[in-house]
Amino acid sequence: SQKWVLMVTAQTPTNIAVIKYWGKRDENLILAINDSISVTLDPAHLCTTTTVAVSPAFNQDRMWLNGKEISLSGGRYQNCLREIRARANDVEDEKRGIKIVKKDWENLHVHIASYNNFPTAAGLASSAAGFACLVYSLAKLMNVQEDNGKLSAIARQGSGSACRSLYGGFVKWVMGKEENGSDSVAVQLVDEKHWDELVIIIAVVSSRQMKQVAPQMLETVETSALIDTGKGSSTKRISYEEAIQNRDFPTFAQLTCADSNQFHAVCMDTSPPIFYMNDTSHRVIGCVEKWNRSEGTPQVAYTSDAGPNAVLIARNRKAATLMLQRLLFHFPPNSDTDLNSYVIGDKSILK
Ligand code: PMV
Repeated sequence: SQKWVLMVTAQTPTNIAVIKYWGKRDENLILAINDSISVTLDPAHLCTTTTVAVSPAFNQDRMWLNGKEISLSGGRYQNCLREIRARANDVEDEKRGIKIVKKDWENLHVHIASYNNFPTAAGLASSAAGFACLVYSLAKLMNVQEDNGKLSAIARQGSGSACRSLYGGFVKWVMGKEENGSDSVAVQLVDEKHWDELVIIIAVVSSRQMKQVAPQMLETVETSALIDTGKGSSTKRISYEEAIQNRDFPTFAQLTCADSNQFHAVCMDTSPPIFYMNDTSHRVIGCVEKWNRSEGTPQVAYTSDAGPNAVLIARNRKAATLMLQRLLFHFPPNSDTDLNSYVIGDKSILK
């Protein structure tokens, strides 16, 4: 019968880059020019939930994002769909008398419904959670047997940062050397329990949609004199990974803040210049810098991705509370500032 529908629902958290990826050596496969490192957030706060369905009654692949239909014709979606389909296996639901054999997948179409529990495309890495969830849920639906590392190389072709959302904790996207991208995969550095004193506060500066990041990334590589293609340079990366392993907050904070500032400097050094942060973002950084200096040792690290929000990583719960008090003092609720909400994770944030 043509009546059946098979469905899978998955949930994937977003991640925040602490050593950022910016610049590609292959536009289509999305291959980076440096290794990057991120921290995966607690799905309770920032995640994508995706349901994928297959039915012989569907006559084309379709997708809805937050309830609105979007086009799947772009290369990024097509690459992910193609790569997953190529790895599909037999699927059987005996109770319902449904059997899909491997080669059926070529002719079966999918419907995809995806929701973000946070503002889409506001520098909160919605594309990271989105493509990771799309690839993961399709892989489950089609009984793909690959491990998360292999799936990360597929999610990477949707959005570079997406490959890092397939693991919890601190995750590294290894840039790899192969031309076909087979070794450009995510690996978990430490799991979510390793450094659970950390508390993450996201100061949501504005939920305005940002522009697509990809084309600007290319312009940066072509025009910026500041871009450091040796960012993955071993000394810096090794001390960063050691700082994570050793839970060495001062080193972690110093390198995280420096990397974020360098990323935004490189964006400004692009022609035409890219401005992701606004006055409020800068004031938040000023506030953290001032407090860290007065304490003599860093209490909070800051970082911003491709948007104005400030992600603050506090060394522990006490530092997070004091940081929030400071922010509420400088940006009082209901004032005319564009900083009005916070997403706060307790120690379970690093899931
Ligand atoms: O994965 P994309 O194409 O959305 O680019 C993400 C770029 C940054 O978030 C700024 C840095 C990163 O490493 O996630």
